[in-house]
Amino acid sequence: MKTLIKIDDLTIHFGGLIAVSKVCFQVNKGLIYALIGPNGAGKTTVLNMINGLYRPTGGNITFERKSIVGLSPHVINQLGIARTFQNTQVFEGLNVLENIMVARHVRSTVNPISTLLKTPGARQEERDIIQKATEALEFVGLADKMTMDAANLPHGQKRLMEIARALATEPKLILLDEPSAGMNEKEIQDVIELIHQIRDQDITLILIEHNMPLVMNISDRICVLDFGTKVAEGTPVEIQNNPNVIEAYLGTDFKGLG
Ligand SMILES: Nc1ncnc2c1ncn2[C@@H]1O[C@H](COP(=O)(O)OP(=O)(O)O)[C@@H](O)[C@H]1O
Ligand SMILES: [Mg+2]
Repeated sequence: MKTLIKIDDLTIHFGGLIAVSKVCFQVNKGLIYALIGPNGAGKTTVLNMINGLYRPTGGNITFERKSIVGLSPHVINQLGIARTFQNTQVFEGLNVLENIMVARHVRSTVNPISTLLKTPGARQEERDIIQKATEALEFVGLADKMTMDAANLPHGQKRLMEIARALATEPKLILLDEPSAGMNEKEIQDVIELIHQIRDQDITLILIEHNMPLVMNISDRICVLDFGTKVAEGTPVEIQNNPNVIEAYLGTDFKGLG
């Protein structure tokens, strides 16, 4: 299977704190790859380095065999990496469709002057953006909420809107930071289904997740971080049977889960 993204010795310091230290992993195309570990383990920081929000102190990140270290989040998004955040990002005062269109402008090829002058090319592109944003909302099941003020969506649907926003940029890799956080049981089932549908579109996923049954159910591989270092990696069955993981993180009653 082809490697889509490869992380080598990834390290970042914040002052004296080493938040992530020499982490290595790679994710093959088409897989669902999970990052788990206790709070403060460095999971979000790894995503922040992958998408260019933080510049690593050391190590490398190669996406489709090219280093992406030092590129801006915008450029990294254009290369095909999209993400959602641990805390939902909602553009207040915009409706749900507009909240998606904001992200879709990443793919824009028309120069800003043409947009201002509303040339035929710019108008065509605007229609294209609306179309792609609509498709993304249909995909996550929010098509009937398009004209609603995004701030008024219930929490679970805001999380889905964020996933739609990421999908609208047509990524090859999507990074989901705790997609099921704050969701009820029904919403969690829906999000599991959605993650499978995303993978079926040939989009590779890296997700951070605290819900262990969810992680064990959907992941192809799991990487366990603790205090900024990788302590284990493997299939869900391997992780569930790894004595270090059980002791350090999962607790003795863990094996009953999933
Ligand atoms: N911008 C930052 N400045 C200083 N410390 C940070 C910053 N971002 C993260 N950290 C620290 O890095 C560590 C890992 O945080 P984080 O990646 O958010 O953990 P996780 O997502 O696994 O819960 C924590 O100690 C956190 O306080
Ligand atoms: Mg986090």
